[in-house]
Amino acid sequence: MGEPGLAQLIDGRALARQLDEETRKGVSDRVALGLAVPGLAVVLVGQDPASEVYVAHKIKACARVGITSYEHRLPAETSQDALLTLIARLNIDSTVHGILVQVPLPAHIDAAVILGAINPAKDVDGFHPVNVGRLSTGTGGLVPCTPLGVMRMLDTIVDDLTGMNAVVIGKSNIVGKPIAMLLLEREATVTVTHIETRGLPEIARQADIIIAAAGAPRLVRGFWVKEGAILIDVGITRLARDGGREQLVGDIAFDEVQHAKAVTPVPGGVGPMTIACLLSNTLKAAQNAEGQLP
Ligand code: GUN
Repeated sequence: MGEPGLAQLIDGRALARQLDEETRKGVSDRVALGLAVPGLAVVLVGQDPASEVYVAHKIKACARVGITSYEHRLPAETSQDALLTLIARLNIDSTVHGILVQVPLPAHIDAAVILGAINPAKDVDGFHPVNVGRLSTGTGGLVPCTPLGVMRMLDTIVDDLTGMNAVVIGKSNIVGKPIAMLLLEREATVTVTHIETRGLPEIARQADIIIAAAGAPRLVRGFWVKEGAILIDVGITRLARDGGREQLVGDIAFDEVQHAKAVTPVPGGVGPMTIACLLSNTLKAAQNAEGQLP
C-alpha cells in the first residue's frame, strides 16, 4: 500500500518479472515433456528508431524465459510481395509458434494486408481480423499484448470490475479498442473517448478507471481525475529536454494525480507488461499448436 494521501504505484517491472517467471516455468515444463521450445519470429522493416528499441527489448526478453527468437531485419525498401513471401514461409515453419511484424511499416506497405496474412494461430500480437473478431465476440483467440498487460495490472488493484465506470482515452486498434472489449467482457461500463471527444475532462471525472492511451503527453490533468480513481497510463512520448537528454512522458500528469487510488508510472508501468504478455502469448501459441489449451 502507498502512504496515506499518496496514490499507490502499480509497479509494471515487478509484475512483469512475476509473469516472466510463470512463462519461464511453462517453457521448461514443455522441454521436460519433450515438446518443442516455443519460437518467436520478429520482423522489422526499416530503421524507425523507436521500433529498433522495442524489437531489441523483445528479442532480449525471449532469451530470459527460454523462448527462441528469430530476428528478420529487412531494409526499408523491401517490397510488400517480399514481406508476404517471408510471412508465408514463417506461417508453415513448425519451429515458429509466434510471428510479430513490428508496426508502423514503411508507407509503401499496406499494414492491413500484411497483418491479415499472418496465420491467426501464430498472431501473438492479436492484430489479425480473426483474433479481433474473437475478442469482440468473447470466443477466445490471441489477445493484443498491451491490453492484456493493462488488465493484469488492474487485477492487482481491484477484484471485480462489474459495473465500474471505465473511461478509455484513445481508439487505436492496438490499445484503445481491444481494451474496451476486455473491460466489457468483465462487465465494466465502458466509455471509449479520444482526442476529439467533446467535454473529455468532465467525462474523465466520472471514471472509476481511466485508461489513457491517446499518445498525448500530460493530457490527463489532476482536475480530470476523481478521488480514488485507478489510472493506467499507456502513453509514452519521447520529449527532447534542455541539455539534449530525452525524457519519457506519459499521457497522465503524474505529479497532479496523487489523489488517485493507484497509478502506473512511465516508464516502468505498462511497457514492461506488454513485453511479458508477448512472451506469454508465444507460450500459449505453442501450447495451442499441440492442442493442449491451458
Ligand atoms: N508497435 C507499437 N506497439 C506494437 C506492438 O505491440 N506490436 C507490434 N507488432 N508493433 C507495435
